[in-house]
Amino acid sequence: MAIKQIRVGRDNFSYLIYCQSATPGAIGDGAEAALVDPGFDAAKALARISELGLELTYIINTHHHADHTAANQPVKKLFSCQILAHRLDAGKIKGGVDALAQDNEELDIGKVKVKIIHTPGHTRGGICLLVDDEFLLTGDTLFIGDCGRTDLPDGSNSEMFDSLNNRIKPLLDDLIVYPGHDYGPTPFDTLGNQKHTSKVLLARSLEEFSRIP
Ligand SMILES: [Fe+2]
Repeated sequence: MAIKQIRVGRDNFSYLIYCQSATPGAIGDGAEAALVDPGFDAAKALARISELGLELTYIINTHHHADHTAANQPVKKLFSCQILAHRLDAGKIKGGVDALAQDNEELDIGKVKVKIIHTPGHTRGGICLLVDDEFLLTGDTLFIGDCGRTDLPDGSNSEMFDSLNNRIKPLLDDLIVYPGHDYGPTPFDTLGNQKHTSKVLLARSLEEFSRIP
């Protein structure tokens, strides 16, 4: 299994998840892949897909905001793939989606397992993706050292606090957190380090969390 973090736009990240075991020495054999959050600069992801000879089977949106979804349709025109998002965000995605992501659902990308974790707070239908118990793609739920905004129309401080504490914090310390934006001192980190250093994961109560500037 492999993941490529692809910097797009000003500070967004798209991610390419693919089944590495199928690619070495066999470039062009159509190993399955998923593209997460194609917001801008889809050409960068498309170049990687072509270079690695991947067959894109899913486009997964962590949430509906345009900087994570704007290139859905241009990419979909090139592959017979499904666009997937949570039902609470799907209706707000330009061009629509093909399938609704369910909380705790597992997708197979070749031999790679991608588990959907519903984490509302930034948007109502925000999701994180747990990839093979090694990587956690957090969209705009968790950044390195911070979390996504909760003051936008479908954001919620209490939902974000609940998602961080009840959905993210119980996960393994060894996971590598791959966020939706490059807002932190590093582009990724272990979840364990974030649990010990991130103000949003250290807040002990909703009141304390709500006081974070
Ligand atoms: Fe967002």
